[in-house]
Amino acid sequence: MRDNLFNKQSDIADFRFDQDVVKVFDDMVRRSVPGYDSMIQMIGLIARMYGQDNTNYYDLGSSTGAITLSIALNNKSKNNQFFAIDNSKKMVEQCEKNLHNKVDNLQAICDDINQVKINSASIVVLNLTLQFIDVNLRSNLIKKIYDGLESGGILIISEKIHFDDAVTQNQITKLHMDFKKENGYSELEIANKRQAIENVLITETKEQHLNRLRDCGFVETSCFFQCLNFVSFLSVK
Ligand SMILES: C[S@@+](CC[C@H](N)C(=O)[O-])C[C@H]1O[C@@H](n2cnc3c(N)ncnc32)[C@H](O)[C@@H]1O
Repeated sequence: MRDNLFNKQSDIADFRFDQDVVKVFDDMVRRSVPGYDSMIQMIGLIARMYGQDNTNYYDLGSSTGAITLSIALNNKSKNNQFFAIDNSKKMVEQCEKNLHNKVDNLQAICDDINQVKINSASIVVLNLTLQFIDVNLRSNLIKKIYDGLESGGILIISEKIHFDDAVTQNQITKLHMDFKKENGYSELEIANKRQAIENVLITETKEQHLNRLRDCGFVETSCFFQCLNFVSFLSVK
């Protein structure tokens, strides 16, 4: 369904992943995140390379299940358990519907990713999710993931970022707005969504992400995707 949630001049409440957003999520994310489909595709290919037999795969902040599906379709390893975890009940219901009969050994779980255990993992993905976690809790979450990974296991993080340099920040922000306008969003919709999301989506710089990953134990992190202000990191334990 087409996203027109923010096309009215009205009081804007903080953004929530509720039933209204679930209905339009797939359209919204594709028209808002440059390169979203490439991210999904690359994560499937990377998972195929790093997945290990007899391990668990975690999709944290799984929304409608696109990452879990891409990993499952690419998976060459044996005896893997898939965990798709989201704290929006409506998202989990939609994920279950979308992946029914498509992903074996799937548990779609409604829970806070700060509370769930990560065990015997070879693949953990936070695709556009860490940005919604309280900044003060981010290191604990990454450290928990590091501890729950098998040797050679990976963490993939995709995020919206910002830039310290004001000129770059302005240019990239302008290009991102142009991208959204090209995809049919009006200036009013863009402004309303920005107002709704600004208290809940907290961006950091690339350096902040890389420093945190290193501090949490990942000695090897590469950036495998960037389009405007969206990046994806691959960290190997
Ligand atoms: C932008 S969406 C993620 C998109 C999805 N990973 C994909 O690639 O299509 C962010 C998701 O994170 C979930 N989320 C935010 N905070 C969470 C938390 N503390 N625990 C679990 N899920 C959370 C939201 O409900 C939402 O579905």
